Amino acid sequence: MDMGLAGKRALVTGSSAGLGEAIAKMLAGEGVGIIVHGRDEGRTAAVAKSVRESGGFAEWVTGDLGEDEAAERVADFAIEHGPVDILVNNAGGYDHVSWSDTTPELWSEAYQGNVISMVRMIKKLVPPMRERGWGRVIQIGGGLAVQPHGSHPHYTASLSARHNLTVSLARELRGSGVTSNTVAPGAILVPSVERLLRAAGERLGWGESWEEIEEAAVREIVPNDVGRLGRPEEIAAATVYLASPLADYVSGATIRVDGGTVRTV
Ligand SMILES: NC(=O)c1ccc[n+]([C@@H]2O[C@H](COP(=O)([O-])OP(=O)(O)OC[C@H]3O[C@@H](n4cnc5c(N)ncnc54)[C@H](OP(=O)(O)O)[C@@H]3O)[C@@H](O)[C@H]2O)c1
Repeated sequence: MDMGLAGKRALVTGSSAGLGEAIAKMLAGEGVGIIVHGRDEGRTAAVAKSVRESGGFAEWVTGDLGEDEAAERVADFAIEHGPVDILVNNAGGYDHVSWSDTTPELWSEAYQGNVISMVRMIKKLVPPMRERGWGRVIQIGGGLAVQPHGSHPHYTASLSARHNLTVSLARELRGSGVTSNTVAPGAILVPSVERLLRAAGERLGWGESWEEIEEAAVREIVPNDVGRLGRPEEIAAATVYLASPLADYVSGATIRVDGGTVRTV
């Protein structure tokens, strides 16, 4: 199936690892030129190299999007090398700090790194999309935005803000040819999630093998209808669809890719 994406150019923030890396690679496979982004130079350059070795086109840039100056540098790099048709706002971080241990500083940091980081990219990259009359803005949100647990409240609140800003931006962009949507993952098996679950598994006696740990994690933390964690490629597939012209009539939407973890209509 031709997704109609060949020749487009995308900035995928936080594509030096995890979901962003999978999204960057799948978009590249559709003929999209990728600006790989992260904070760690080695990881970021390695993903760009891997895209190129697979026959794709990739540049790379680093910078902490939780800071104005670095974010500006990243956006300028992206714009100076050509038009950016697709912005995937994926960069962000999570921890497992409870209500007892969270602090106003952690809330502030979560907002800077997980929300304002996205606003910084939108403010720089969306006006040129609007002028050209076509563009895609895709926020990676999460099921915890609408169905939070009791833990890491600063993170789950920051996810809610991503979902909210997606819809507000879609309304603002009405009639412009630029859409704004959210992909909302459930728990997805990236190396950072695997590390967290292995540590939890050891503490809670979930067993030794990854199969035992995943089964217990699904039972105890993220019960869902499919009965497993998601895989990064499953998030990438939804993102590629939203990025494509096939989704011209989709704006302000949330696509959940969570095996049915979120229990609402
Ligand atoms: N995995 C899940 O289960 C899941 C579920 C729901 C939502 N999400 C969301 O999906 C996104 C990606 O998560 P992931 O699991 O793939 O995480 P990950 O494997 O830890 O990767 C995070 C990526 O974001 C970058 N990053 C983090 N904070 C940044 C900042 N302040 N400035 C610039 N880059 C930053 C990291 O760069 P460096 O590593 O180079 O520093 C890395 O490329 C996050 O926004 C997360 O909230 C994930």
